[in-house]
Amino acid sequence: VDALTYDYIIVGGGTCGLVMANRLSQSGASSVLVIEAGSSVLNNSAVFDPTAYGAAFGSAIDWAFKTVPQAAADQKTHTLRAGKALGGTSTINGMSYVRAQSPQIDAWQQAGNTGWTWSSLWPYYLKSESFQAPSAVDMIQTHVTYSAAEHGYNGPVKVGWSVEQSNSTYPVILNETFQAVGLQWNTDTNGGDERGFSVYPLMVDRENNVREDAARAYYYPSAAKAKSLAVWLNTTANKILWKRGAPTASGVQVTFSNGSLAEVRAKKEVILSAGALISPILLERSGIGSPTILNKYGIDIVVDLPGVGEGLQDQVNNGLGYTIEGNFTANGSKTFVAYPTLSQLFSNDSEAYDSFISKVKSSLPAYASQVASRNNNATSAADLLTSFNMQYDLLVKFQVPAAELIFYTSGQTLQSQHWTLLPFSRGSVHITSATASPPNAAAAIDPQYFSFAPDVDVQVFVGEFNRLAFHTQPLSDLAGTEQSPGASTTSASQWSRWTKKNFRPNYHVMSSAAMLPRSKGGVVDPTGKVYGTNNVRVVDASIVPFQVCGHLTSTLYAVAERIADLMQQN
Ligand code: FDA
Repeated sequence: VDALTYDYIIVGGGTCGLVMANRLSQSGASSVLVIEAGSSVLNNSAVFDPTAYGAAFGSAIDWAFKTVPQAAADQKTHTLRAGKALGGTSTINGMSYVRAQSPQIDAWQQAGNTGWTWSSLWPYYLKSESFQAPSAVDMIQTHVTYSAAEHGYNGPVKVGWSVEQSNSTYPVILNETFQAVGLQWNTDTNGGDERGFSVYPLMVDRENNVREDAARAYYYPSAAKAKSLAVWLNTTANKILWKRGAPTASGVQVTFSNGSLAEVRAKKEVILSAGALISPILLERSGIGSPTILNKYGIDIVVDLPGVGEGLQDQVNNGLGYTIEGNFTANGSKTFVAYPTLSQLFSNDSEAYDSFISKVKSSLPAYASQVASRNNNATSAADLLTSFNMQYDLLVKFQVPAAELIFYTSGQTLQSQHWTLLPFSRGSVHITSATASPPNAAAAIDPQYFSFAPDVDVQVFVGEFNRLAFHTQPLSDLAGTEQSPGASTTSASQWSRWTKKNFRPNYHVMSSAAMLPRSKGGVVDPTGKVYGTNNVRVVDASIVPFQVCGHLTSTLYAVAERIADLMQQN
């Protein structure tokens, strides 16, 4: 092969990009090139040490994107972490492996994505997984349980409980506490129902005690040996290049680490897997997006697709902390998890619950109009309202989990973090330059945290529920003084002030180039193909149409596996 011509060019060797690279190069029939801005982190202890969560933050392998000041959250700017390395964000994330709640994936088909249901995605969850079942002794010592039928055993991604999840009574104490507030033990959070309390598994290679990131799972074992696969590290993609007069990609323009430019050609397709904050930027830089935005930067319009960059979603994270009464140590792992539903957040107060859900329902039309006018009707208020109502039904009718709470100890303190799983707030990400290199450096990232006012209320209810757990026996026997937010925070307005002032992004950004019908503001079709183009796909968190409960990576691996399969069936 010509060193500058490949069948497939994949932009971004991250979580999804490496799944695509592995599967498309597997048979050897097609040549594949991966363009990755970062380098290999195989020997970086901030990556491979499963206890080093956070050590990579702020280092050279963290893009550390900045949001614009958040209008509904004290005008503060926030940092969004994202991995810049072979393996992408899977090299710096929390490694938690939890899938979606089943009706959420069924909602993708209901929204117009034919073929995307829980049962069609299920085989791909299993295909990507290599479950390391705990031994009977481990199960007793770590208090974990699992259901054998809910796991895959032959896939690339090793999933299990790390050796750090050692002997501890903490999950027993938490389990009894949550039973007392109405949450039951969940045997396995990965079977499509996460509700209750559990100890979830991680993406970890248990035998070697190292993080199982996308490169260790999908690249090093087999793909690295594939003759049909090339990987260019430290190389940045700037934009897609087009054939004359047609929406057919001819290749990609790249910048090498020494600053020189090159054009690399794609005979079949260009696949963008640069992540939810960057793939939409690359589309805009390449002439695909809203004419209003492209004209502003003098970019020739290849496809008028106003949904590009709209619909950006994330979650918000707050933490509670207590001193420990007496002598107690537990391991540092953050895998003790509670998933309450919206009605469980209200305990037995059904009147308060009813009045809150009707407030949410009646606030949605005005918010849909607000988002539509902010995005210049890229998605109409009516279509937004339809998807908000689907999300409302998931929370109210299907009672999917409304929040996640995780518990751990740090020194002589008990810590927990909580986040609302399905906020309604929708934002955007757009270019601020036509020429900056890397293109990522020039983006206006606006998640619009808390722009739907009841999202603040839910995060407050979750905080109060979190405190309720610390005030319930047997956990209350261990919890001493509340350090965060502190006992003086009691009224709803105090909670809401504290919540907005102290939250951090939950880093589950997605949906900025959504898989939805084009008429509804969608950017890609159910095979990941960008509307209006002949051979450009997006396969990463940008295309996930609605936020999922659980954590994103397990679902992203399954989505990429399914799209790779669909491509090869055609
Ligand atoms: P990903 O970011 O993996 O890949 C994009 C790749 O493209 C990167 O390698 C990047 O360098 C590259 N790239 C970007 N621009 C480029 C350009 N112009 N040219 C070339 N290359 C370019 N999920 C989970 O399941 N469990 C968890 O515990 C956590 N915890 C967590 C913690 C933190 C701190 C973060 C930031 C995120 C999580 N997540 C998580 C979320 C999860 O890790 C995340 O959603 C996915 O890894 C995203 O995968 P993608 O494939 O979309 O992008």
